[in-house]
Amino acid sequence: MSKRHLVTAALPYANGPVHIGHIAGCYLPADIYVRFLRQMGEDVRFICGSDEHGMAITMRARKEGVEPRAIVDRYHNMMKGSFEEFGISFDIYSRTSSEDHHETAQDFFLKLHEQGVFQEKETDQYYDPEARQFLADRYIMGTCPACGHTEAYGDQCENCGRSLSPTELKDPRSTLSGSAPVLKKTTNWFLPLDEMADGIRSFLDQHKDWKPNVHGQCMSWLDAGDGLQPRSMTRDLDWGIRVPVKGGEDKVLYVWFDAPIGYISASKELMPDQWRSYWQDPDSRLVHFIGKDNIVFHCIVFPAMLMAHGSYNLPEAVPANEFLNLEGQKISTSRNWAVWLHEYLEDFPGKQDVLRYVLCATAPETKDNDFTWKDFQQRNNSELVAILGNFLNRVFVLTDKYYGGQLPDLDGSSDSEQAAWAEFTAHADRMEASIGAYRFREALGEFMGLARIGNKYLAEQEPWKKIKTDPERAAVILALAARMAAFIGQAAEAFLPFTAARIRNAFGMELMSWEELKKIDPAKWLKGVSAANPGLLFDKIEDEKMDEQRARLTQSEAEQSTAPAVDPQKETVDFESFQRMDIRVAQILSAERVPKTDKLLKFEVDTGLDRRTVVSGIAEFFDPKDLVGKRVPILMNLAPRKIRGIESEGMLLFGEDSEGSLKWVEPDAGLSPGSSIG
Ligand code: 2FM
Ligand code: ZN
Repeated sequence: MSKRHLVTAALPYANGPVHIGHIAGCYLPADIYVRFLRQMGEDVRFICGSDEHGMAITMRARKEGVEPRAIVDRYHNMMKGSFEEFGISFDIYSRTSSEDHHETAQDFFLKLHEQGVFQEKETDQYYDPEARQFLADRYIMGTCPACGHTEAYGDQCENCGRSLSPTELKDPRSTLSGSAPVLKKTTNWFLPLDEMADGIRSFLDQHKDWKPNVHGQCMSWLDAGDGLQPRSMTRDLDWGIRVPVKGGEDKVLYVWFDAPIGYISASKELMPDQWRSYWQDPDSRLVHFIGKDNIVFHCIVFPAMLMAHGSYNLPEAVPANEFLNLEGQKISTSRNWAVWLHEYLEDFPGKQDVLRYVLCATAPETKDNDFTWKDFQQRNNSELVAILGNFLNRVFVLTDKYYGGQLPDLDGSSDSEQAAWAEFTAHADRMEASIGAYRFREALGEFMGLARIGNKYLAEQEPWKKIKTDPERAAVILALAARMAAFIGQAAEAFLPFTAARIRNAFGMELMSWEELKKIDPAKWLKGVSAANPGLLFDKIEDEKMDEQRARLTQSEAEQSTAPAVDPQKETVDFESFQRMDIRVAQILSAERVPKTDKLLKFEVDTGLDRRTVVSGIAEFFDPKDLVGKRVPILMNLAPRKIRGIESEGMLLFGEDSEGSLKWVEPDAGLSPGSSIG
């Protein structure tokens, strides 16, 4: 083993809560791996944090009509809390909006810039003249040139998975305004992946041992028709880290440039004096846990950045998982088709380990997999309760009943004890090997093998019968079974940390290192120890509870699809522009239809300052006779314009619901004509 291990889990975008797909894809396997390394006595640090830049954030902010800062603050805290409660044992959960991260990412960029790594290139990029913004990545949609999917994004087609650049899209349209974009010149800094391809290939050639899904995807990028292409590391956007070189003042670093550097910033924050040894000493290992959509960035782009920098280790392993589906459908945040971690924690208090178990047992390690509540229930009832819980419960109950909780000694054990212990510990050895090979499902199967052997041993030896006929023999059997239960309390630490702690507490044990555990001689271990029955460690989950969860899922999806559509926020205005608007309360003195029109009403209003005429296109929503005497907000200083020959001096303001109907906005009774609004 190496001297040190730096294990990272993908920094999740702080644009929504964590769901089971995220957990199964990367956080749970990473946590199992790290917990096991710690138990092996290895020097390991587990790094994560929120990814707070990029369009995932700005698009969410736009949708909600708030600033990006409000989004990242809300979800960073929420995600951090859920991870903690679920027992994901990060050594640090940082965030990329921190000042230190901005500095680290800028320094990294500057170093590459000084070394002449980037190509500074002027290119044509799509621009939305209405929104006055360049349209990178997800701000542009169109038809995929490969599969014809009409909803492909500027960076990727989610239908066929092909990675795209915006100019490849057919019939492009802006996702900001819906309008057709125009091409406009802009300068950006490109990482010349084409020139770096040989270095990347030889790096990947050293890792043919990586999971086939990971290595295969990397090779298909390298071997694609036109090979690796230069990739821009800057974007013409506002939200993000400023590009720290001349000409970059209005641009930000590409989120996929800054986010992986977040692993470095978080390590610095955690270990201000030692972080370098974890990143730069060749005796340290770097392991990235991610989901499959992040493979190219962790296996090609980030290693290329690290190579170009020159001072860092490259990742030794990138054990990426595939996707987890839910009840046969793709998990979707926008459709609200997901099991959200914070809701699970609320609905199933104290059952973190059940979800940990099920998500590990069904982890999409080699191919996409499906989570269903039926399977969740079945695995709980027939595996956790019937196998693991049953064995532990029998041991605690019988030890209590026959010996008042005092563990009998294992003197006088026979061949059957030796054979059972050997078979038992063989599972632990295989569990260790499987975790080392990132095969966590298999490892969990081996862990459950421990409980299976325990059950088999008890069923064969029947201490409940022997207690009457041969009490000495019964004591030996329960002595060994109790050592097995205690061993399980140690070996469960990586998978089921909450249950593991309860078992260890019952025996009054601390967590032992794996090395100590493997050396145990059951005859000498736990002599004179008493066990306090911890009660049932797992209990049956009834159909009703599962029905509730399924109903919740379909209901949230239905609510989401019928939720009124809310218009996105308009382009921001500066304070001065806003102050120039003169909005006041006006009172309607008269209202009448404009002849020969369907929509227009002509008003005489008292603005407090004067009486004036205003024409509004609201006739289909209001009856003029209902309006006289009412007060309404008016934009006073809108430039006058002639409508059907009538000069309109201002604009009356109304609300508009999701169906497009106008509604009255009634000023408070205390606001008389002329009162200003703003
Ligand atoms: O896909 C995602 O959720 C990204 N935020 C992952 C970033 S991983 C790393 F590079 F920070
Ligand atoms: Zn496609």
